[in-house]
Amino acid sequence: MERILDYISDKMGLAFEKAGYEASYGKVTVSNRPDLCEYQCNGALAAAKAYHCAPIQIAQKVVEELDAQDFSLAEAVMPGFINLRLSGSFLAGYLEQMRTAPDFGVEKSGTGKTVVVDYGGANVAKPLHIGHLRPAIIGESLKRLHQFMGYNAIGDVHLGDWGLQMGLIIAELQDRQPNLPYFDPDFTGEYPAEAPFTLTELEEIYPAASARKKTDAEFAERAHAATYALQQGNRGYRAIWQHIMRISLADLHRVYDSLDVHFEKWLGESDADPYIPAMVADLKAKGLAIPSEGAWVIPVAEPGDKKEIPPVILVKSDGSSIYATTDLATMVQRMQDWNPDKILYVTDKRQNLHFEQIFRAARKAGIVKPETELEHVGHGTMNGADGKPFKTRDGGVLRLEQLVKEMTDFVRAKVVENKIVDENEVENTTHIIALAALKYGDLSNQPTKDYNFDLERFAAFEGNTGPYILYTIVRVKSILAKYGAWEHLPIQAPVNDSAKDLMLSVTRLAPTLESALRTASPNLICAYIYELAGCVNKFYHETRILGEEDKEKQAGYIALIGLAKDILETCISILGFEAPEKM
Ligand code: ARG
Repeated sequence: MERILDYISDKMGLAFEKAGYEASYGKVTVSNRPDLCEYQCNGALAAAKAYHCAPIQIAQKVVEELDAQDFSLAEAVMPGFINLRLSGSFLAGYLEQMRTAPDFGVEKSGTGKTVVVDYGGANVAKPLHIGHLRPAIIGESLKRLHQFMGYNAIGDVHLGDWGLQMGLIIAELQDRQPNLPYFDPDFTGEYPAEAPFTLTELEEIYPAASARKKTDAEFAERAHAATYALQQGNRGYRAIWQHIMRISLADLHRVYDSLDVHFEKWLGESDADPYIPAMVADLKAKGLAIPSEGAWVIPVAEPGDKKEIPPVILVKSDGSSIYATTDLATMVQRMQDWNPDKILYVTDKRQNLHFEQIFRAARKAGIVKPETELEHVGHGTMNGADGKPFKTRDGGVLRLEQLVKEMTDFVRAKVVENKIVDENEVENTTHIIALAALKYGDLSNQPTKDYNFDLERFAAFEGNTGPYILYTIVRVKSILAKYGAWEHLPIQAPVNDSAKDLMLSVTRLAPTLESALRTASPNLICAYIYELAGCVNKFYHETRILGEEDKEKQAGYIALIGLAKDILETCISILGFEAPEKM
């Protein structure tokens, strides 16, 4: 559907033309004085300079020429603004179109395009910790937003499963259990199907090895050698690696599922490995990769750089590949398999430089086609309620699961205390509300900003929170359920100011989704639904809905709140959560 702003701008342009001025002066914007009008056009002020006459005269002439049927107000005011209000019948017609069109008539700008959203960033053999919350939540919602806008959106977790952490585990395991067949170079039989460790043990082995690396140079050396041997295809190490993957992935699936975060692809750094040799050879042949102190690097600095952009290290001096190597090879794989028009990387913003480097290298080397957009969505840090880095009581990193549990326990207590649902519904309702609190609490912040995790504030049923949005949806659902069949009722002209405000808010869906997509900012959707929910509640408080005796009028109210509810539900599903039946 055409955007309202475009539609009125066209009408206004026509009026300028009829009045003898250029149509481009007819650009209309949302009013910055909502007390005076809904939309405004400042074109007469600019035209006055070009045509050498008083802006107010131009504005008056234009208003006379304006096709007034869509406006309840169109007036020229000093010094030359044109103030506009839409007519109720126009709004009713527009919303009726939104109501009956698929997906509310939102233009599908992504049709025929593919986007890869690289998010989550989990590392195998390490439990997810609170640092993994933001990339999971922001990435999931950006992916869903792209899907809604018509893209073929592929979410890929891009597991950290190929780097030094694997060598560390292997080296540590060898020290602890040297007699395992994996370490016997002469072993040619079948390796055991059972892993020589449990998940709990694995989660202890890795941090122990990681700590040891810092103080034990000989051990670090062996871990590096094991990483290299693994990457070169050492049979025993690959078998250990398989065990680690199987055990760790099952756990990662479980935790991401509990967050309602789902990846289309569970590929990892290891899946990029087969693409490395040819890519490296090509980069060397093209002279883009050059030798440097035993390593191979790709210089990516550019003349205008404000800060130093170091070269990308492609192959380390010991022959192993690193983070940048696998990221570049992953681009090769993605281009080959999916040919995306856009790749979005959602990670901590401290990885900015890494992405700047590999984007430049990929462009230089022609790894991605020139039209493919590469974008790093770098997010800020989630701190504790006190604004300090989030730590457990003993100073460690909090597990993601623990954070979810704390939120869930907090919400459950409320659900039970307020007797919101029957006993057998408590867990399900609690889970739904807790996710909304957690996700909205995160997504309502601009991704790049840091924010403080505040259990009580996020889980509050009032204020700018997820539960408040859910509460609004549930309230409307319960009115609709009492009313009966409502799905086919047409939208009517507004009866009062709060109805009109609600209708205007409804019209802002498409522009909101477009800006959120363009700027990779789910926070814009949060701000929008907070506004929309506010309008719904104001309308509800100021209008007798179920008690209305005029059945015709009542049907119009019901149609309006039904549409608003459908939009709220669609938006929260884009954000990655849902509403319960009761609350
Ligand atoms: N595993 C990485 C980390 O923990 C994040 C991966 C992000 N994606 C990427 N393509 N580099 O930092």
